[in-house]
Amino acid sequence: MENVSVIDHPIIHRYLTYLRDKSTNTALFRRAMSNIGIILAYHALNDFPLSEIEIETPIQKTTGYKPATEVVVIPILRAGLSLVDGIVNFMPEAKVGHVGVYRNEETHQPVNYYDNLPEGIEDAYNIVVDPMLATGGSGSHAIKFLKENGATNIKFVCLIAAPEGIERLRKDHPDVPVITAAIDERLNENAYIVPGLGDAGDRYFGTL
Ligand code: PRP
Ligand code: URA
Repeated sequence: MENVSVIDHPIIHRYLTYLRDKSTNTALFRRAMSNIGIILAYHALNDFPLSEIEIETPIQKTTGYKPATEVVVIPILRAGLSLVDGIVNFMPEAKVGHVGVYRNEETHQPVNYYDNLPEGIEDAYNIVVDPMLATGGSGSHAIKFLKENGATNIKFVCLIAAPEGIERLRKDHPDVPVITAAIDERLNENAYIVPGLGDAGDRYFGTL
Protein backbone atom coordinates (compact mmCIF):
# COMPACT_ATOMS: atom_id res chain seq x y z
CA MET A 1 0.00 0.00 0.00
CA GLU A 2 1.24 3.45 -0.94
CA ASN A 3 3.21 5.16 1.85
CA VAL A 4 2.39 2.45 4.44
CA SER A 5 5.21 0.31 5.90
CA VAL A 6 4.46 -2.78 7.98
CA ILE A 7 7.61 -3.68 9.91
CA ASP A 8 7.99 -7.45 9.90
CA HIS A 9 10.57 -8.54 12.48
CA PRO A 10 10.77 -11.59 14.79
CA ILE A 11 11.18 -9.41 17.88
CA ILE A 12 8.07 -7.45 16.92
CA HIS A 13 6.08 -10.69 16.54
CA ARG A 14 7.22 -11.88 19.97
CA TYR A 15 6.55 -8.64 21.83
CA LEU A 16 3.29 -7.97 20.01
CA THR A 17 2.15 -11.34 21.33
CA TYR A 18 2.80 -10.15 24.91
CA LEU A 19 0.90 -6.95 24.19
CA ARG A 20 -2.10 -8.74 22.70
CA ASP A 21 -2.26 -11.37 25.48
CA LYS A 22 -4.83 -10.22 28.04
CA SER A 23 -2.95 -12.04 30.83
CA THR A 24 0.15 -9.84 30.38
CA ASN A 25 0.69 -7.67 33.46
CA THR A 26 1.39 -3.93 33.40
CA ALA A 27 5.16 -4.31 33.90
CA LEU A 28 5.60 -6.67 30.95
CA PHE A 29 3.17 -4.64 28.84
CA ARG A 30 5.32 -1.53 29.38
CA ARG A 31 8.55 -3.38 28.58
CA ALA A 32 7.09 -4.90 25.41
CA MET A 33 5.80 -1.52 24.24
CA SER A 34 9.14 0.10 24.91
CA ASN A 35 11.06 -2.61 23.01
CA ILE A 36 8.77 -2.45 19.99
CA GLY A 37 8.95 1.34 20.14
CA ILE A 38 12.71 1.16 19.63
CA ILE A 39 12.36 -1.07 16.55
CA LEU A 40 9.64 1.15 15.07
CA ALA A 41 11.79 4.22 15.71
CA TYR A 42 14.75 2.59 13.96
CA HIS A 43 12.63 2.10 10.84
CA ALA A 44 10.86 5.44 11.05
CA LEU A 45 14.21 7.24 11.03
CA ASN A 46 15.48 5.44 7.93
CA ASP A 47 15.58 8.61 5.80
CA PHE A 48 16.61 11.00 8.56
CA PRO A 49 18.83 13.70 7.02
CA LEU A 50 22.42 14.02 8.20
CA SER A 51 25.15 16.49 7.42
CA GLU A 52 28.85 15.72 7.36
CA ILE A 53 31.23 16.91 10.06
CA GLU A 54 34.96 16.49 10.36
CA ILE A 55 36.10 14.63 13.46
CA GLU A 56 39.39 13.27 14.63
CA THR A 57 39.84 9.68 15.74
CA PRO A 58 42.90 8.83 17.86
CA ILE A 59 44.54 7.93 14.52
CA GLN A 60 43.54 10.63 12.01
CA LYS A 61 40.83 12.99 10.80
CA THR A 62 37.71 11.46 9.25
CA THR A 63 34.15 12.27 8.31
CA GLY A 64 31.33 11.92 10.84
CA TYR A 65 27.65 12.84 10.74
CA LYS A 66 25.27 14.98 12.74
CA PRO A 67 21.54 15.66 12.42
CA ALA A 68 20.80 18.08 9.57
CA THR A 69 17.48 19.01 11.09
CA GLU A 70 15.67 18.95 14.42
CA VAL A 71 13.53 15.99 15.42
CA VAL A 72 10.18 16.59 17.11
CA VAL A 73 8.23 13.65 18.54
CA ILE A 74 4.52 14.30 19.05
CA PRO A 75 2.72 11.68 21.16
CA ILE A 76 -1.08 11.69 21.03
CA LEU A 77 -1.98 11.64 24.73
CA ARG A 78 -2.19 9.49 26.64
CA ALA A 79 -1.17 6.23 24.98
CA GLY A 80 1.25 7.88 22.52
CA LEU A 81 3.61 8.55 25.44
CA SER A 82 4.46 4.84 25.39
CA LEU A 83 6.32 5.23 22.08
CA VAL A 84 8.28 8.42 22.85
CA ASP A 85 11.26 6.68 24.47
CA GLY A 86 11.91 4.60 21.35
CA ILE A 87 12.68 7.71 19.33
CA VAL A 88 14.43 9.58 22.12
CA ASN A 89 16.63 6.49 22.50
CA PHE A 90 18.15 7.22 19.08
CA MET A 91 17.67 10.99 19.06
CA PRO A 92 18.35 12.16 22.64
CA GLU A 93 18.13 15.79 21.55
CA ALA A 94 14.61 15.38 20.14
CA LYS A 95 11.99 17.86 21.27
CA VAL A 96 8.64 16.48 22.46
CA GLY A 97 5.35 18.17 21.58
CA HIS A 98 1.98 17.00 22.91
CA VAL A 99 -1.46 16.68 21.40
CA GLY A 100 -4.17 15.61 23.88
CA VAL A 101 -7.05 13.79 22.22
CA TYR A 102 -9.51 11.22 23.54
CA ARG A 103 -12.27 9.44 21.67
CA ASN A 104 -15.85 10.14 22.62
CA GLU A 105 -17.07 6.68 23.67
CA GLU A 106 -20.38 6.98 21.82
CA THR A 107 -19.55 8.92 18.66
CA HIS A 108 -15.90 7.69 18.45
CA GLN A 109 -14.99 11.20 17.33
CA PRO A 110 -11.74 12.76 18.62
CA VAL A 111 -12.07 15.34 21.40
CA ASN A 112 -9.12 17.70 21.74
CA TYR A 113 -8.20 18.73 25.31
CA TYR A 114 -4.56 19.86 25.23
CA ASP A 115 -1.91 21.05 22.76
CA ASN A 116 1.69 22.03 23.29
CA LEU A 117 4.01 22.18 20.30
CA PRO A 118 7.63 23.34 20.47
CA GLU A 119 8.90 26.10 18.21
CA GLY A 120 10.48 25.11 14.93
CA ILE A 121 8.15 22.35 13.70
CA GLU A 122 8.00 24.10 10.29
CA ASP A 123 11.56 22.96 9.52
CA ALA A 124 11.69 19.86 11.71
CA TYR A 125 11.41 16.13 11.07
CA ASN A 126 8.15 15.50 12.93
CA ILE A 127 7.05 12.05 14.11
CA VAL A 128 3.53 11.63 15.47
CA VAL A 129 3.27 8.53 17.68
CA ASP A 130 0.23 6.62 18.94
CA PRO A 131 0.08 2.83 19.42
CA MET A 132 -3.47 2.49 18.03
CA LEU A 133 -4.81 3.68 14.67
CA ALA A 134 -8.47 2.61 14.85
CA THR A 135 -10.95 4.87 12.99
CA GLY A 136 -8.03 7.22 12.28
CA GLY A 137 -9.93 10.17 13.78
CA SER A 138 -7.32 10.97 16.46
CA GLY A 139 -4.34 10.54 14.12
CA SER A 140 -5.92 12.60 11.37
CA HIS A 141 -6.79 15.35 13.86
CA ALA A 142 -3.22 15.48 15.25
CA ILE A 143 -1.63 15.62 11.79
CA LYS A 144 -4.06 18.36 10.68
CA PHE A 145 -3.15 20.36 13.79
CA LEU A 146 0.56 20.03 13.00
CA LYS A 147 0.00 21.13 9.41
CA GLU A 148 -2.05 24.13 10.58
CA ASN A 149 0.98 25.07 12.67
CA GLY A 150 3.29 24.93 9.67
CA ALA A 151 4.72 21.39 9.75
CA THR A 152 5.39 19.89 6.33
CA ASN A 153 7.64 16.92 7.11
CA ILE A 154 5.51 14.48 9.15
CA LYS A 155 5.50 10.71 9.77
CA PHE A 156 2.94 8.68 11.69
CA VAL A 157 4.17 5.74 13.77
CA CYS A 158 1.78 3.27 15.36
CA LEU A 159 1.83 -0.26 16.70
CA ILE A 160 -1.48 -1.69 15.42
CA ALA A 161 -3.58 -0.22 12.63
CA ALA A 162 -7.08 -1.11 11.48
CA PRO A 163 -7.69 -1.06 7.72
CA GLU A 164 -10.28 1.68 8.37
CA GLY A 165 -7.66 3.89 10.08
CA ILE A 166 -5.13 3.38 7.29
CA GLU A 167 -7.76 4.31 4.73
CA ARG A 168 -8.68 7.46 6.68
CA LEU A 169 -5.05 8.63 6.89
CA ARG A 170 -4.42 7.83 3.23
CA LYS A 171 -7.47 9.92 2.29
CA ASP A 172 -6.86 12.87 4.67
CA HIS A 173 -3.05 12.97 4.61
CA PRO A 174 -1.65 11.01 1.64
CA ASP A 175 1.68 12.81 2.04
CA VAL A 176 2.29 11.37 5.54
CA PRO A 177 4.05 7.99 5.63
CA VAL A 178 2.57 5.48 8.09
CA ILE A 179 4.87 3.01 9.87
CA THR A 180 3.16 0.22 11.79
CA ALA A 181 3.95 -3.17 13.33
CA ALA A 182 0.65 -4.75 12.24
CA ILE A 183 -2.50 -4.19 10.23
CA ASP A 184 -5.32 -6.08 11.94
CA GLU A 185 -8.63 -7.40 10.58
CA ARG A 186 -11.21 -4.71 11.31
CA LEU A 187 -12.97 -2.56 13.90
CA ASN A 188 -15.73 -3.95 16.12
CA GLU A 189 -19.04 -2.20 16.91
CA ASN A 190 -17.27 -0.09 19.60
CA ALA A 191 -14.57 0.94 17.11
CA TYR A 192 -11.97 -1.21 18.90
CA ILE A 193 -9.39 -2.98 16.75
CA VAL A 194 -9.97 -6.73 16.21
CA PRO A 195 -8.05 -8.70 17.39
CA GLY A 196 -6.04 -5.70 18.66
CA LEU A 197 -4.88 -5.50 22.27
CA GLY A 198 -7.78 -3.73 23.98
CA ASP A 199 -7.37 -0.23 25.39
CA ALA A 200 -3.71 0.67 24.95
CA GLY A 201 -3.72 3.65 27.33
CA ASP A 202 -5.44 1.80 30.14
CA ARG A 203 -3.18 -1.23 29.82
CA TYR A 204 0.02 0.86 29.62
CA PHE A 205 -0.88 3.14 32.54
CA GLY A 206 -2.47 0.38 34.64
CA THR A 207 -5.83 2.19 34.77
CA LEU A 208 -8.05 -0.68 33.69
C1 PRP B 1 -6.81 5.64 21.82
C2 PRP B 1 -5.49 5.54 21.06
C3 PRP B 1 -5.67 6.55 19.98
C4 PRP B 1 -7.13 6.44 19.67
C5 PRP B 1 -7.31 5.65 18.41
O1 PRP B 1 -6.82 6.73 22.66
O2 PRP B 1 -4.39 5.78 21.88
O3 PRP B 1 -5.33 7.86 20.35
O4 PRP B 1 -7.76 5.76 20.76
O5 PRP B 1 -8.64 5.64 18.00
P1 PRP B 1 -9.12 6.36 16.67
O6 PRP B 1 -8.15 6.00 15.60
O7 PRP B 1 -10.48 5.76 16.45
O8 PRP B 1 -9.18 7.84 16.92
P2 PRP B 1 -7.98 6.93 23.75
O9 PRP B 1 -9.09 7.75 23.18
O10 PRP B 1 -8.37 5.61 24.31
O11 PRP B 1 -7.28 7.83 24.83
P3 PRP B 1 -6.05 7.47 25.82
O12 PRP B 1 -4.82 7.36 24.96
O13 PRP B 1 -6.02 8.63 26.72
O14 PRP B 1 -6.36 6.18 26.53
N1 URA C 1 -8.06 2.73 21.19
C1 URA C 1 -7.47 1.67 21.81
O1 URA C 1 -6.76 1.84 22.81
N2 URA C 1 -7.67 0.45 21.31
C2 URA C 1 -8.44 0.21 20.22
O2 URA C 1 -8.57 -0.95 19.81
C3 URA C 1 -9.05 1.32 19.59
C4 URA C 1 -8.83 2.56 20.09
